[in-house]
Amino acid sequence: MDKSDAIKRINELTAQLQRHNYNYYVLHQPEISDYDYDMLMKELQRLESEYPGHALPDSPTQRVGSDIDQSFEQVKHPTPMLSLDNTYNEQELKDFDQRVKKEVGEELSYVCELKYDGVAIGLHYENGLLTRAVTRGDGVQGDDVTENVKTIRSIPLRLQGDDYPDQLEVRGEIFMPHKSFERLNEVRQKEGKTPFANPRNSAAGSLKMQKSSQVAQRSLDCFIYQFISNDLPSDTQMGNLEKAKEWGIKVSEHSIKCKTIDEILAFIEEWDTRRSELPYDIDGVVVKVNEYALRDELGTTAKSPRWAISYKFKADSVKTRLKSVDFQVGRTGAVTPVANLEPVLLAGTTVKRASLHNEDIIKNLDLRENDMVFVEKGGEIIPKITDVDKEARKEESRPVTFISHCPECGSKLRKNPEEAAHYCPSETGCPPQIKGRLHHFISRKAMNIDSLGEGKIEVIYDAGLIRNVADLYDLEKEDILGLKKDYHDGEKVRTVSFQEKTSENIIKGIQASKEIPFERVLYALGVRFVGATVAKKLAQEFKNIDLLMQAGKETLVSVDEIGERIAESVIDYFSRPEHQKIVERLKKAGLKLEVEQQEGASDSLKDKRIVISGVFEKSRDELKQLVEMHGGRNVSSVSSKTDFILAGENMGDSKRKKAETHSVPLISEKEFLEMIGEE
Ligand code: IVH
Repeated sequence: MDKSDAIKRINELTAQLQRHNYNYYVLHQPEISDYDYDMLMKELQRLESEYPGHALPDSPTQRVGSDIDQSFEQVKHPTPMLSLDNTYNEQELKDFDQRVKKEVGEELSYVCELKYDGVAIGLHYENGLLTRAVTRGDGVQGDDVTENVKTIRSIPLRLQGDDYPDQLEVRGEIFMPHKSFERLNEVRQKEGKTPFANPRNSAAGSLKMQKSSQVAQRSLDCFIYQFISNDLPSDTQMGNLEKAKEWGIKVSEHSIKCKTIDEILAFIEEWDTRRSELPYDIDGVVVKVNEYALRDELGTTAKSPRWAISYKFKADSVKTRLKSVDFQVGRTGAVTPVANLEPVLLAGTTVKRASLHNEDIIKNLDLRENDMVFVEKGGEIIPKITDVDKEARKEESRPVTFISHCPECGSKLRKNPEEAAHYCPSETGCPPQIKGRLHHFISRKAMNIDSLGEGKIEVIYDAGLIRNVADLYDLEKEDILGLKKDYHDGEKVRTVSFQEKTSENIIKGIQASKEIPFERVLYALGVRFVGATVAKKLAQEFKNIDLLMQAGKETLVSVDEIGERIAESVIDYFSRPEHQKIVERLKKAGLKLEVEQQEGASDSLKDKRIVISGVFEKSRDELKQLVEMHGGRNVSSVSSKTDFILAGENMGDSKRKKAETHSVPLISEKEFLEMIGEE
């Protein structure tokens, strides 16, 4: 393919992928398989890297994000981001309707929308292209989180059609759907991190992450609910919501236009019960005047518009009896008390269990056996006990006490004084912990042995064939052929047994995992606090497992981003004979326990912090890759710690000034290439 064909193909692929993306993430009606989509994406990625500088500004390859740390610039909102007046009762809503009608007359309509529970965002489109995304901040100015927002697939990088305003800001809510939230917390728990309390917090946390490639993993989503431009196609909210759909923007299907307060109240009532059906959280309903001319007449106060009000749902609460308390041991060994309740209906679902989180919560509630308790479904998915009806309790009732020994393996539990949770210390003797480590080891981001899902590995575990990750590599087809397990599927019992093909695939999958690079093997071991990013850092720094195992605390903490907590955990892990044995066996099995040198790589920029600024002959991505390949670190803002700026043409003024202040040298592209021996 010659250059002009390649550029043509880049344009074609960009438009095609754009369309498939919209079909999938906005309409939920894909036209092609995931595999075909991935193939098109790979082709585009390849062409863009072969012809740097020809990637389009709305290229879907940006959706995967980048690994470079960013600092968020504060930018002013052209129109302040106000908040909404809240109400919790019908009367205040009626007062709002009266006030509005008194001021602008009876001839008006309202739009009722769901109040999505996430983080507000302003998206700026110039000539149809997404140029900037800004968080609410203090309402006057917010953080520029453009790179992170570009990874959210339902947000168009370019608008469709041609009748959008040249200058357009749309505002909406970024949120994390329940499914993504649950998946994320599962992984966080596995990695020994504190789980997020609710989807809103996790959306907020994700949006402020330093690396956009990590935001891309978080499966965020977004609904748009406001339009700002001098040139909007419609003079009503409903009209613009419809138009926005044509531009490829995701708006909710559930917004309605209504005239009377009764219609509004019916909408609220409907969604107060139906909200449990939604795959994301809402915390109320927003009622807005539909006609923009009337909005202008009504105006705003300093804090909120007079043309809108939000009705917040009360957190649902019901009373029921506490039957007993179970103690569950998680994959990390953390013990969680769970209350068994007399089944009760709450926000559309029957609740039988509620989390009690830890011992402190039980003590604070002063929970007693057989108590009548209040259960609420707040932002959290699992309901929680918020209070106890102390009047309803018998005097002789006995307090609920925390257990002292692990219900799974009988070991004495431990508790760190700074932490609320109790732990079972028997990592190698406690079944949920062993299985947890095995699940983690085979998971996609670790060894990616997908022929061996969680169900299958459990069958092999139950047959007593594996007790640690090294045992996997001793398995032979004959060992697992014919293994069986019964599953209870509702009333029915299903038997799954490993046939010839399945067994063969499992062994093949295990063998293939020997090609997985060192950083992922390290992550797969499941050392506490060593997530994928830390594992990558450690692998890059120590190059092989022997050097890592020999490293003392001082050496470990001298590595960027490695703190004392991680260092201690690494040392503790490798100091244990059982872990040393596993490493030895994995080495013998032929897993990659050292990094493979990239061709042309060197240490010439080792530990240098480099800022790239301006326009260059090579593409920025290429330069960034070169920096990493030669041991340097790409950083986004200039500080006294910056070693040099790789300065191209038209470098920004503010960076230049900062460079002067901190005496940071400027290096040209040519000098840089000489430095790393590329020219
Ligand atoms: S309209 C002038 N519509 O609620 C403010 N806001 O409490 C116009 N929110 O900051 C906002 N869903 O983050 C509007 N359908 C919706 C909304 C919504 C959620 C959030 C938004 C806003 C907050 C105000």
